[in-house]
Amino acid sequence: MNLFWVLYALLANHWCLGDDKDSELCTSAGELPAPDLFLNKTLVSEGETITALCAAPAEVFLTGFFFCKDGAPVSSKKAASQYVQYIVYASPKNAGQYSCGYQQKDAKNQVKISALSVAQNLIVQPRYYDSNVDPGQTIPTYIWILRSSLVLLLLVSAPIITYFMEKCNCSLFGPRN
Ligand SMILES: *[C@@H]1O[C@H](CO)[C@@H](O)[C@H](O)[C@H]1NC(C)=O
Repeated sequence: MNLFWVLYALLANHWCLGDDKDSELCTSAGELPAPDLFLNKTLVSEGETITALCAAPAEVFLTGFFFCKDGAPVSSKKAASQYVQYIVYASPKNAGQYSCGYQQKDAKNQVKISALSVAQNLIVQPRYYDSNVDPGQTIPTYIWILRSSLVLLLLVSAPIITYFMEKCNCSLFGPRN
């Protein structure tokens, strides 16, 4: 029953809601040479803004640019020159692999798509990492290892001690029988 609804939702999303032409942008191999993508920063804190610059080869004629994140289109823009900027607001959901491409329309209105640029990974550090975590308060690794081995040692030694105590018949709680 659940599986049915999941499949139904997936299919409905694919056929009714998804713009197939757009979603192909970020998965197609492309016929034209790939552009270059530059992020002005790749490791950012939540709340910062990042400029993504997509630059097409100088010699190609192009009509539009598009940006992809994790294989799905996030923005498309008309081309006014050989490059275009896209501003990304750093939030956890905007972290991921970015790439870009461009489109070309020939005289017969045929659209050609470029190969995607090399992907750039944007890492967004949540805001609380900056202020609330004091590195001095975290327990050093060697203490953890020491503690873990102590616990392990106790666990392993318990049956051994019990065995020897039973063998020599010298219970801590006085003689048996
Ligand atoms: C990156 O671009 C954004 C938005 O244009 C700007 O606010 C930020 O200062 C730039 N960062 C660097 C490191 O150049």
